[in-house]
Amino acid sequence: MIKLIVVENYEELSREAFKVMKEVIDSKSHPVLGLATGSSPIGLYKNMIQDHKENGTSYENVTTFNLDEYVGLKKNHRETYYTFMHKNLFEGIEIPEKNVHIPVGDSEDLDGECRKYEQAMSDYQVDIQLLGIGGNGHIGFNEPGTSFDSLTHIVELKERTRQDNARFFTDLEEDVPTHAITMGIATVMKAKKILLVANGENKADAIYGLIKGPVSEDCPASVLQNHDDVVVIVDKAAASKL
Ligand code: F6R
Repeated sequence: MIKLIVVENYEELSREAFKVMKEVIDSKSHPVLGLATGSSPIGLYKNMIQDHKENGTSYENVTTFNLDEYVGLKKNHRETYYTFMHKNLFEGIEIPEKNVHIPVGDSEDLDGECRKYEQAMSDYQVDIQLLGIGGNGHIGFNEPGTSFDSLTHIVELKERTRQDNARFFTDLEEDVPTHAITMGIATVMKAKKILLVANGENKADAIYGLIKGPVSEDCPASVLQNHDDVVVIVDKAAASKL
């Protein structure tokens, strides 16, 4: 079941998303969070950092699993999701490094890394998985056409995705990775609860596909219609086609 919340703007979206996240964190002694990168969750992460600083919410017993990572970059490269997460969240909430899981994109054995990541995730259960959504309905790096049965796997990035991401790489476009490692759609669906956030008009088609479209591999996010507990928070622009 999908609960849809439409808000005025990005600030409100971030506050509402924080409430959902905080409720899960407060209700567990050892919460397990699935996390995402990209621009959509940054406001939520700012709320989490502020709450940690002002109210002392502790992340000592919180475990995290990130959705995805580029292949081939050293983890301290400034554009890895490892760097993104430390800069935008982990440093601000003082979470112990041992509690943090991000796929290792420069592993020499990438298939082994996929299996290891999937195994590590099934040793825990994700209490809440945070997602953004691509303009084409992708979740994680699972592009249209990805099997709903997919587990953590390596994907070749579509040219459009590489071009979209090229703006973050100051060097030539050749530096944008060609592959990534991502949780699969079945991996995401194992989470007890899913929280998806999206803002802006360029997400309106994808949000339509997620809420009203047929459940189809053409729109990966539409699979969420089959999940028991999903909260989707969008601003008016992203909701404009509903
Ligand atoms: C991020 C991820 C992606 C993004 C999506 C939206 O870890 O896996 O699916 O959530 O591309 O990106 P933004 O939020 O930058 O629009």
